Amino acid sequence: MKKITKAVFPVAGMGSRFLPATKASPKEMMAVVDKPLIQYAVEEAVAAGITDMVFITGRNKRAIEDHFDKAYELEAELEMRNKIELLRIVREVIPSHVNCIYIRQSAPLGLGHAVLCAKPVIQDEPFAVILADDLIDGKTAIVKQMVDVFNRQRCSILGVQNVPRDQTGQYGIVSTTPLVTDLEEVNGIVEKPDPKDAPSTLAVVGRYVLTARIFHHLENVRAGAGGEIQLTDGLAALMQEERMLAYRFEGTRYDCGSKLGYLQASVALGLQHPEVKAEFEAYLKALKLEM
Ligand code: UTP
Repeated sequence: MKKITKAVFPVAGMGSRFLPATKASPKEMMAVVDKPLIQYAVEEAVAAGITDMVFITGRNKRAIEDHFDKAYELEAELEMRNKIELLRIVREVIPSHVNCIYIRQSAPLGLGHAVLCAKPVIQDEPFAVILADDLIDGKTAIVKQMVDVFNRQRCSILGVQNVPRDQTGQYGIVSTTPLVTDLEEVNGIVEKPDPKDAPSTLAVVGRYVLTARIFHHLENVRAGAGGEIQLTDGLAALMQEERMLAYRFEGTRYDCGSKLGYLQASVALGLQHPEVKAEFEAYLKALKLEM
């Protein structure tokens, strides 16, 4: 099987939980401290050796293309004002050896449909799927951890973590057989089960390494409510045919698609940022004393 060189970033969702912020600009361009969510996601892919970034975009997503494009006027302006450090930051948004490919999802027909839109570019190669609104802070980039697992196991891998039972209704939940410390064999997957029906509390979060066979199954998935094609249904069909593993990644995940998760990520990453961490920590301590 081939090496993983491509990552798919589905960014065509409506981001309705973040309205009005997402009325005219993409959720994935919301910044945590000073970087947009999509840049954290792309950096994770670059750290895993991925060179082709495939963005599945929709309406109001032009800002993402602009973010990864050369900004001639801005660079000229910064150069003229001798703002060397800022110029470096702007130029290093994406390494020069990385290609950005944009595919438009004609209508938001679900995550499964968004992934299927990448088929003409991915063809028959294994690939990563990264949901930028799941920001994962770990010592080793999570996609790198998963690509390493893929290189050993040569099958589809789902990034999973335990969630409180009362939250199973927000996730795809897997049933598994433990294999080794952080790897489990997936036997079943259900989308957003009621806590009382959930087969486990192991939730799939926004990281996947998939074989190209997923496209065949997504093409055959029947659309559910609202005409949406669920990735979970494609995965359920794929696991009938191919081995699939769940990987308990090392890292802290923030659901930046929700207001609370976004605020938590901003605090955690603010406390790590070299420019502001000392003052921010002092501010939070003072705030705690006041409360
Ligand atoms: P979400 O379920 O978070 O939906 O999608 P959303 O539209 O982004 O946000 P809310 O729920 O309305 O607030 C999960 C991921 O799948 C992408 C989204 O961009 C997000 O990264 N997605 C979803 C698509 O690319 N296309 C779709 O049709 C649906």
